[in-house]
Amino acid sequence: MKKNSNTHNSEKIAIKVKGICKYYRIGTKENIHDSLGGAIFSLIKSPLRNYRKYRSLYRFDDSEINDSPDIIHALSNISFDVNRGEVLGIIGKNGAGKSTLLKILSRITVPTSGYAEIHGKVSSLLEVGTGFHPELTGRENVYLNGTVLGMTKLEVDRKFDEIVEFSGFEKFIDTPVKRYSSGMTVRLAFSVAAHMEPEVLIIDEVLAVGDAAFQNKCLNKMEDVREKGRTVLFVSHNMSAVTRLCDRAILLNSGKLVMNGPPEEVVREYLKSGQDIPGELIFDSVENAPGNEIVKLKAVSIRQENGAISPVINIERPFSVEMKYQIFKPGFSFLPHFVLHNGGGNIIFVAIDQDRNWQNRTRPPGIYTSKALIPGNLLNEGTVFVDPVMRTVEPDILHFVENNPISFEVVEMSKDNPTRAGYVKSIPGFVRPALNWTTDFKDT
Ligand SMILES: Nc1ncnc2c1ncn2[C@@H]1O[C@H](COP(=O)(O)OP(=O)(O)OP(=O)(O)O)[C@@H](O)[C@H]1O
Ligand SMILES: [Mg+2]
Repeated sequence: MKKNSNTHNSEKIAIKVKGICKYYRIGTKENIHDSLGGAIFSLIKSPLRNYRKYRSLYRFDDSEINDSPDIIHALSNISFDVNRGEVLGIIGKNGAGKSTLLKILSRITVPTSGYAEIHGKVSSLLEVGTGFHPELTGRENVYLNGTVLGMTKLEVDRKFDEIVEFSGFEKFIDTPVKRYSSGMTVRLAFSVAAHMEPEVLIIDEVLAVGDAAFQNKCLNKMEDVREKGRTVLFVSHNMSAVTRLCDRAILLNSGKLVMNGPPEEVVREYLKSGQDIPGELIFDSVENAPGNEIVKLKAVSIRQENGAISPVINIERPFSVEMKYQIFKPGFSFLPHFVLHNGGGNIIFVAIDQDRNWQNRTRPPGIYTSKALIPGNLLNEGTVFVDPVMRTVEPDILHFVENNPISFEVVEMSKDNPTRAGYVKSIPGFVRPALNWTTDFKDT
């Protein structure tokens, strides 16, 4: 690509968003049709009713906008540019306005005010099976979706095998999509979108679906798309994917653009500003807390090395997993432990209390906090679930096992993590230890 120092050069800009606002009225739900046919049909059915509804949906008086509690400001005055070939990450809490922004850019909905310009052929993947027809088979939907997204039949023919192979559904390709699970539908939809070769690719949270292997495939595909110099807009709650794949990120909070800059900095700001998932779970009421009359769980927490509670851990830094519990009866020795797993039935490891001071020793009643320090550069990036368990060995009693009360996210905060040694694609595995490597060399 030709480099141009003039940032105002429109040749360089793929997307220009200027002063976009989007308001919704609470109680009046915007009717989104699955298909163009459905939209046209309902428009023909009742033109006047639709016109009135349309007006009340999209008209907002100035006085109303600032005062009315019935109006949601899904987006307020958003402006930014995306350069050609740039991968822009969009992050923010649930309800921040990310999907609304992508819907406006994909022309699925219109902004209340402001405008967005997009230069180039767009392909977007916004929701589960957008544009997929349940009665049609996978094969038919690939053709339908491919042509809707702007490919010719010949182009789909050429790419068909590759698309199906990528999805991994060769066996089900002639089955109607209504028999697919939602995860399968998204996989196929992603495969079509990923093979589109659009100039601008818009993706909303696709990586949240599918198993780990498919997620890796998607990330690698995005990496290819990026290498080909395409412009990508990418909404994700997966912070590692954002820091690793994006050239820049924007942070939305309650419909406002609060930061626009290098992904690592924006991710850090987001993580500081409070998260969707808490880094601590407290059992307030003793009656409902896991456990029995001997011991009960009071809290589980994840702490960064500086002591701050956080559900997000920098892959390079040590952190701790803690459980707070109350012992009611004397005379028992306890073995607190944590099961760290991936939420999909695979255990990463089990950590058993190794504090010698309390091993084989009965604990008097009181409140205890047992803390396991986990080194940096041990776990791989991704989501890790923590199950706290309390056991007594002699006699053998399982006091509590709490499944998935808390999870945390291991995130790469820099692009040059030592365990990568410069490799950029996603690395599979539950652990990614920093090992000491040596090389022997003999000159032949
Ligand atoms: N069709 C609609 N009608 C009314 N309110 C809406 C509509 N769509 C979105 N909203 C509201 O707009 C705000 C932004 O929603 P949006 O879906 O864009 O958030 P998001 O950042 O994508 O969240 P998530 O991370 O949960 O996907 C929310 O308060 C939401 O309730
Ligand atoms: Mg969303």
